Amino acid sequence: LDERLPLKKFSDFLPVVGIKPELSLGEGDTPLLRLGCLGRKQRLSYLFAKIESQNPTHSFKDRGTAVSIQKAVALGFKRFGTVSTGNMAASTAAYGARAGLETYVFLKEGTSRMSLMAAGVFNPHLVTVKGDYGCLFYESFSLGKKNNIYFSNSIDPFRIEGYKVTAYEIFLELGNGAPKYVLVPLSSGGHLIGLMRGFEDLKKDGYISSIPTFIGVQAEGCAPLARAYERGESVYTRIDKAETIAHSISNPDPPGGNVILRMIRDHGGIITAVSDQEMLEAQSMLTREEGVFCQLESATTLAALLKLRHGLSLKSTDRVVLVLTGSGLKSVPSLESAGFKSRELSLEELSETRL
Ligand SMILES: Cc1ncc(COP(=O)(O)O)c(C=O)c1O
Repeated sequence: LDERLPLKKFSDFLPVVGIKPELSLGEGDTPLLRLGCLGRKQRLSYLFAKIESQNPTHSFKDRGTAVSIQKAVALGFKRFGTVSTGNMAASTAAYGARAGLETYVFLKEGTSRMSLMAAGVFNPHLVTVKGDYGCLFYESFSLGKKNNIYFSNSIDPFRIEGYKVTAYEIFLELGNGAPKYVLVPLSSGGHLIGLMRGFEDLKKDGYISSIPTFIGVQAEGCAPLARAYERGESVYTRIDKAETIAHSISNPDPPGGNVILRMIRDHGGIITAVSDQEMLEAQSMLTREEGVFCQLESATTLAALLKLRHGLSLKSTDRVVLVLTGSGLKSVPSLESAGFKSRELSLEELSETRL
C-alpha cells in the first residue's frame, strides 16, 4: 500500500531519502477531469481541470507540506510552522498534528473565519498577524531560528519539490504526454516554480520533447508579477496595497517573484491578471456547467483562458490544463453571493407540489 503513495512512487525525483509513510495523509493522485461543456464552448476538445481540492486539507498545499514534514522530522525538529493566507495554515496544522509536532501558524490579517477554523481544528498555535505580510514571511525565519521551529513557508525548497509531483501526475494522466498549456493561479510563486521544474525533469529525462507553455494568473488588484511581465522587467516591484477578494493570491511582495519572471521568460510563458468579476463569473461557470466548485482563486485560470483564448496559438485538439488549486467551500464571498433559491415545505405541502 505504501508503495502507491505518490511520494513513494516518484521518490527518484525527490530529494528525500527514507520517506516515512506514516507522515503522509494520502495526498496527491488527484483526478484530471475533462471539461466537456466548457471545452465545447471554447472549441477545445481536450480542456482539463486538475482537481487539487481532493487533497487531504482541500488544496494543493498538502503536496508541498507532505515533503517538508518529511524533512522537518528527518532533521529532528519538534516544532513546525508556516506563514499563510489560508490554505497553507490548514495543511501545515494537519501534517504537524499527524507528525506529533508542536505547530505554529501565522495568518495574514483578513484571513476568513472559514480558513481560520479549517486550521484551528487541528489545534496549532494560531496567530493572526497585523502588519506587512511580506515582512512577516522573513520575520518567521528569524523567529524559527531563535525558537527551533522549521518554517515551511510558500517557497520552502522542499515544499516546492512536492509540487513537482503534480506535473508527473498530469503527464501520466495524459497517457505519457505533456499538455500544450498549463494555467495556474500565481501568488508567492512556489507552486508554479514546482510545476515548471516537474516538467523540466520530464524533459531532461527524455519523457517529453517540450515543456508546456505556462500561464501564471494573478488578481488585477494584486498583480506585481503580471505588471513586471507586461513591462518586460526581470525584477518585480512590490505593490503597496492589495485590493481583491482573492485573498489567497494577494501577496504584494511575492518571495518567488523574480525566479518566476526568469523561468517564464526562459520557457516562453505568460503572466496575466484577471478582475474579481471575471473570477466570480469563471467560478460560477465551472460550478454550474461542470459541477466543479473550486476556490475563487483557482477560477482565475478559466478567467484567463477566456480572456486570452483568441490570442493564443491553440488548435482544437491541443490539450489545456487548468490547475484548480483549492476548494470552493473556502470561498466565503462566493458562498454568500451564490444566489440560489431554497424553499421550506412541510411533508404534506411537498406531496401536493408540482415539481
Ligand atoms: C487556492 C490557492 N491557489 C493558488 C495559490 C498560489 O500559490 P503560490 O503562492 O505558491 O503562488 C494559493 C496560495 O496560497 C492558494 O491558496
